[in-house]
Amino acid sequence: MTSKLLHIPGSAGLPVVGDKSYEYYKDAVQFVLKRIDQHHSRIFISRLLNTPTVFVADHSMVNELLKDHGEHLEFGYKVFMHNVLGDNILFANGEEADNIRKIFHRLLDETTVGHFQDIVERLVEKHLQGVETRETICAYTMVKKLATEICLTLFLGVDFEESKELASRICELTTTHWHGIISVPVNFRVPFGTSSTYSKALEAKKLLLEIIQTKLHAEDTDATFPLQVREAGFKTPILAANHLLLLTSALVPKALASLVTSFVLVTSQWMSKYEIEDMLDNQKHFDAVLLEVQRLWPPFAGGRRVVKKDLVLSAGYRIPHGHAVLYCTHASHRDPKVFPDPDNFRPDRWSNSSLSKDSLFCFGGGARDCVGQHIMWNMLRTICTSLISQFTWELEEGQCLEYKWLPVSRPKDKVKAKFTRK
Ligand code: HEM
Repeated sequence: MTSKLLHIPGSAGLPVVGDKSYEYYKDAVQFVLKRIDQHHSRIFISRLLNTPTVFVADHSMVNELLKDHGEHLEFGYKVFMHNVLGDNILFANGEEADNIRKIFHRLLDETTVGHFQDIVERLVEKHLQGVETRETICAYTMVKKLATEICLTLFLGVDFEESKELASRICELTTTHWHGIISVPVNFRVPFGTSSTYSKALEAKKLLLEIIQTKLHAEDTDATFPLQVREAGFKTPILAANHLLLLTSALVPKALASLVTSFVLVTSQWMSKYEIEDMLDNQKHFDAVLLEVQRLWPPFAGGRRVVKKDLVLSAGYRIPHGHAVLYCTHASHRDPKVFPDPDNFRPDRWSNSSLSKDSLFCFGGGARDCVGQHIMWNMLRTICTSLISQFTWELEEGQCLEYKWLPVSRPKDKVKAKFTRK
């Protein structure tokens, strides 16, 4: 640890007029890269959501923040997501968050993960049977549909075959709800209550919670997960319902669809390194490809915290109480100190023993890392393995393969491809 305090480059600007939220939400990745360049520094300050915000894009500093400074930080999502989601773990801190995490760990134990795996395999099979092989299809849309059905089946016990109307109603509601979640950061200067997108989202939330309540209290049902959630020990029934709302929201399917689509998009890059048979036989090679996908195109470009007690990073930067911190997943995953040749797809880098899954922040890190990451790894492996063992595909030429990054990353053009059954 250096004893000298260092100045954080950049400016927090004046309240309101100096706010950069709009620029950040338009292109979060460019925003960060431009300032890293401008300040010659992977840590800098700006103003976001009208709060002085320290951006951390240095891999070792992100690691330190997430793993060593937990007690100085609170999750920073309440200001723009609380109303649309209600009380849940994302807005809890300290002991309360620890207790909810324990509940999640119990809920997502080995038995549940095994049961989930059977359902995931069945649904992947069903969707892949239906892939139109003579026409060009949009890979993102196809995968998003699959991911949505997986999540609603696992977490809410909705059977898309038996309850078609209910399934489509829930999908509509989650879309409206999602538009409310994402409308807030950009419109933070407009009182949220006045936006019609926002009020429609609140109405969708109410209706989704009504459906969730019926699932939570159904006596005779196959929906085992909601019943487990009911008995899991959440402090109040509302808290249990709100957690199902979080898992039912579009957030998780979008993140899963993002990763699978990126995997499809870079086929030629991993095919030039590994044979399909090798990928299927060798879990290490397969995981190296998935890790490289997560490194280059994480679904969440970063995570927000609010500093509740002054903290000093070992490199010598002091971040005062009341400031926000944004850990930049995308940029820290391309920090050349840890990932040489950072912008290139190099699955072979994962055979280097100094790197492991923990070197990535795709699922956060430290005491508040993602409680669903094991399930997500299983889903990701299952979908990608089924895709490469059953199909080959060709991407349509001339597509714009740039990404949009917020709120959940995905290729702008949604990836058109022609699939051929093997
Ligand atoms: C590809 C899919 C997913 C990605 C990329 C992802 C990513 C993340 C990240 C980055 C965080 C940390 C946020 C932060 O540091 O601010 C997080 C937290 C969390 N994730 Fe996931 N996640 C995924 C799927 C899931 C699933 C399937 C579940 C549930 C079964 C889940 C439940 C949670 C919960 C409850 C938290 C909050 C943990 C806490 O507050 O302590 N996630 N996730």
